[in-house]
Amino acid sequence: MIIHRPPFAIHHFTSLGSTNDHLKQMIAAPEFTCVVADEQTAGRGRRARTWHSSPGDGLYLSILLRPQSGSSSKIPLVSLMAAVAVAETMIERGVAGVDIKWPNDVLLKGRKVGGILAEAVSAGSEAPRIILGAGVNLNHQSFPPDLSETATSVAIETGERIAVEEFRDQLLDKIAEWYAVWKRDQTGLIINRWQQLSTYARGQRVIVNLDDEKIAGVTAGLTETGALRLIVDGGEVKIILAGEVMRLRKTVE
Ligand code: BTN
Repeated sequence: MIIHRPPFAIHHFTSLGSTNDHLKQMIAAPEFTCVVADEQTAGRGRRARTWHSSPGDGLYLSILLRPQSGSSSKIPLVSLMAAVAVAETMIERGVAGVDIKWPNDVLLKGRKVGGILAEAVSAGSEAPRIILGAGVNLNHQSFPPDLSETATSVAIETGERIAVEEFRDQLLDKIAEWYAVWKRDQTGLIINRWQQLSTYARGQRVIVNLDDEKIAGVTAGLTETGALRLIVDGGEVKIILAGEVMRLRKTVE
């Protein structure tokens, strides 16, 4: 079924392996083509993880973006802006305790409630196409044992169910707004909003797990391309481009 909700054309499925993978098969489609599934049987997360996608419980959505121009340094900001859009949608629905952990994990009361998987598909000399995938845990009552300590849903934290289609439409509006900001090169607005919404942005003692080492330090905001500034022991500032952040203890004064 295709739902027309300008600028989006939403292709809805009851079940797919992964909405990102399905959209990859439709890479020649127009910008704002969107794939949504009630469940995913092979939902994918970042760092080769799986994304638990039980039927009807969450929003599993992918959007095709075809930016015409702009430098490649802006690309990482697409996933940061999507995390901002997810967080803002929750906040506007009155959900309290929303946070963002760098780069784009949306947390609710400290546990993961939403994630972003943005994949750039290059087409020769043409501008890259971006498949922007978002998963949001809305109505799950429980998670498999391996996730139960780290994942949560809006229903678990608030006791309230959310209509998935309603949340989808609100989130799409937010993504369209922020994507317009991104296209206008107002990337500072995205960084500022991300920093406002994230308790991790500054003054947090964290460990960053890189592929081959772990670095401890205190967060000091984002660079203009969305990388994380970390003040390591001794005072040196390291710029983290990719890695997994874990909070160590409470805010450093
Ligand atoms: C993360 O690891 O935090 C990213 C999770 C992204 C999950 C979404 S659900 C819709 C889209 N399709 C996928 O297979 N993954 C993304």
